[in-house]
Amino acid sequence: MEIFEAIRRDHEKQRLLMKILVETSGDTESRRDFYAELKQALIDHAIAEERYFYSPLMKSDQTIEQSRHAIAEHHEIDELLEKLDETEMTSPAWLATMKKLKHLVEHHLAEEEQEFFQQAGKVLSASQKDNLADKYQGEMEKAH
Ligand SMILES: [Fe+2]
Ligand SMILES: [Fe+2]
Repeated sequence: MEIFEAIRRDHEKQRLLMKILVETSGDTESRRDFYAELKQALIDHAIAEERYFYSPLMKSDQTIEQSRHAIAEHHEIDELLEKLDETEMTSPAWLATMKKLKHLVEHHLAEEEQEFFQQAGKVLSASQKDNLADKYQGEMEKAH
């Protein structure tokens, strides 16, 4: 498997969790569970992706700018997660912030998949694409 497919699979999981979460309301056990799962998925993914995708791509002039941009967006995602942690689930602000997070993450994933993967595909060798997938998946498994 190539790194792109490994990342795309985790993106799908994130999309599904966010889709479920914007349909929830109030302070319920299931909302707490889905949110905890999403938060962990986003944090683990950002760490593994920065280590085994963006880090090698920072070394190329063709992909350094976009790598920086993506990593900056990971920080914006972290900030919204912190805001959600600090907001009462019963407050309407929680859902509003969750929708903001969904919008930001969906934009980020689309940019990675539709723009960045193509550029990265030209910079990474075939063996790198496979090796990075193994390392990325190993890191994701370790995180659980
Ligand atoms: Fe990302
Ligand atoms: Fe990603």
